[in-house]
Amino acid sequence: MLPVGFFVFCTYLSEVYCQSALIPKTLTTTRGSCLLIPCQLNIPPEKDSVLQSSVQVKWKRESLWKNYSEEGFNSLHEKEPEVEVLGDLRKKDCTSVMRNLSSLHSDRYFFKLEADKYTFTETKGIRINVSDSPPEPSVTIPDLVEGKLANLTCSVSAPCPRLSPNVTWTSALAGNLTQGTRVNADGTHSVFAILNFIPSFLHLGLKVNCVSVHPVERADTFLQSHKVTMLNVTYPPKDIQISSSNSVWLGDNVTLICASNANPPARYQWIQKKEGVDEELGDSHVLSFTATQENAGQYVCEAKNFLAAVNSTLQIHVKAISFTTFLLIITLSPVLLLIPIILIIYRWCKEQHKSDSNPNIYANESNLYQQAPQLQSEPYNAKATHSNNSLYTSRAEESIYANC
Ligand SMILES: *[C@@H]1O[C@H](CO)[C@@H](O)[C@H](O)[C@H]1NC(C)=O
Ligand SMILES: *[C@@H]1O[C@H](CO)[C@@H](O)[C@H](O)[C@H]1NC(C)=O
Ligand SMILES: *[C@@H]1O[C@H](CO)[C@@H](O)[C@H](O)[C@H]1NC(C)=O
Ligand SMILES: *[C@@H]1O[C@H](CO)[C@@H](O)[C@H](O)[C@H]1NC(C)=O
Ligand SMILES: *[C@@H]1O[C@H](CO)[C@@H](O)[C@H](O)[C@H]1NC(C)=O
Ligand SMILES: *[C@@H]1O[C@H](CO)[C@@H](O)[C@H](O)[C@H]1NC(C)=O
Ligand SMILES: *[C@@H]1O[C@H](CO)[C@@H](O)[C@H](O)[C@H]1NC(C)=O
Ligand SMILES: *[C@@H]1O[C@H](CO)[C@@H](O)[C@H](O)[C@H]1NC(C)=O
Ligand SMILES: *[C@@H]1O[C@H](CO)[C@@H](O)[C@H](O)[C@H]1NC(C)=O
Repeated sequence: MLPVGFFVFCTYLSEVYCQSALIPKTLTTTRGSCLLIPCQLNIPPEKDSVLQSSVQVKWKRESLWKNYSEEGFNSLHEKEPEVEVLGDLRKKDCTSVMRNLSSLHSDRYFFKLEADKYTFTETKGIRINVSDSPPEPSVTIPDLVEGKLANLTCSVSAPCPRLSPNVTWTSALAGNLTQGTRVNADGTHSVFAILNFIPSFLHLGLKVNCVSVHPVERADTFLQSHKVTMLNVTYPPKDIQISSSNSVWLGDNVTLICASNANPPARYQWIQKKEGVDEELGDSHVLSFTATQENAGQYVCEAKNFLAAVNSTLQIHVKAISFTTFLLIITLSPVLLLIPIILIIYRWCKEQHKSDSNPNIYANESNLYQQAPQLQSEPYNAKATHSNNSLYTSRAEESIYANC
């Protein structure tokens, strides 16, 4: 753990500079929990034998520094945490554990070794923070790309192995969860949970929660913290669609809209395929034009983001009146116009014949009646009064139709 240079340095200087306890600068734990302090002794080789005898390790509080010299100051004072050396001092392992910590124990502590005829205090203290609530777990999420296996990593420091927290992912994600403990470079521990899963576009915006559960000295309770993270998944364009009116008539204002589902959002490119030649039309998702015959053909909308490009094609037919249809209409229009005229003439003609025929009828009947021209103005009355003559009337009408 010590650099080689340190020992070289040591051989030229007095032993005072060659004794130390390697401890982290700062450690944090949660109230009610314990704290493991990784510690490595470094003492001059000639003092090694000291460690074989009875040795005492103390962790002195900076705030009580003056009180230690006081007469009758109780070293097991309630302001001092309960400490136990877990390491094997003969192997220069001074790793210690502080138990049942409260926030009142937050302070700077100094390592002190006491043996027969040998005492030394590490001048570099350790800052110990006891928080009331456990720390938020730290979450590492790589750039998530659809279809590419990824690890969601959550970790939290485990300041005390005996009361190690437990982290896990609570989410609807189907994946493989790996839990474990890691020893950091400074000798402290942390626990982690890795969720290995395959992101999909459906996971965009999904909230994943990492929960850490921190046991405390009191077995019937625990503390908890969590961190919620929203997933961002990048994916190539999907569901590319072109919307347009179905029939396009010559002279119409045509608007084609290209849409897709992509993250990051797609950029669009319109291409018209004309006799095998691609013509780029624009790079907005909307394409507008007034339809001419030139506009008929195949339209390609290319939706593209940094992952992929996807094409969608639409065939546009510009409906118009062809020259032959035009000629036909021109030719037929007089005929078409004539039809109602003919009908009108015919009806008029029919009416005329009807009126003309009445005198004939009465003429035929003149044998029976006295010549009465005034009856012409009241033909129906005449018919009504002389219903027997209906036979004559219908016959006469037949002849009218024949004449017309
Ligand atoms: C430590 O000493 C100071 C005076 O130097 C005193 O006020 C304080 O009460 C002492 N603390 C304890 C815990 O004895
Ligand atoms: C822990 O410390 C609290 C006071 O901070 C004390 O009441 C309790 O008895 C201690 N528990 C253990 C197991 O030492
Ligand atoms: C520890 O507590 C001190 C004082 O409350 C604060 O300044 C420091 O940032 C804390 N350190 C850590 C690592 O929490
Ligand atoms: C994810 O984590 C597992 C287990 O730690 C590891 O084997 C794998 O290589 C990691 N995969 C990626 C993509 O980081
Ligand atoms: C975490 O807690 C769960 C449930 O309490 C348990 O099944 C799991 O084994 C624990 N994991 C670790 C690493 O302690
Ligand atoms: C999870 O692990 C199992 C077996 O180790 C494997 O078959 C499966 O494909 C893995 N699933 C994921 C999402 O990595
Ligand atoms: C077609 O669009 C042009 C320009 O945008 C506009 O001047 C014209 O009035 C539109 N015609 C119709 C029929 O909407
Ligand atoms: C998600 O990632 C994309 C691509 O990196 C980025 O453009 C977008 O702003 C991100 N969204 C959020 C909510 O972070
Ligand atoms: C989309 O179509 C254009 C024009 O034909 C072509 O240049 C491009 O390569 C196509 N892109 C894809 C992804 O097929």
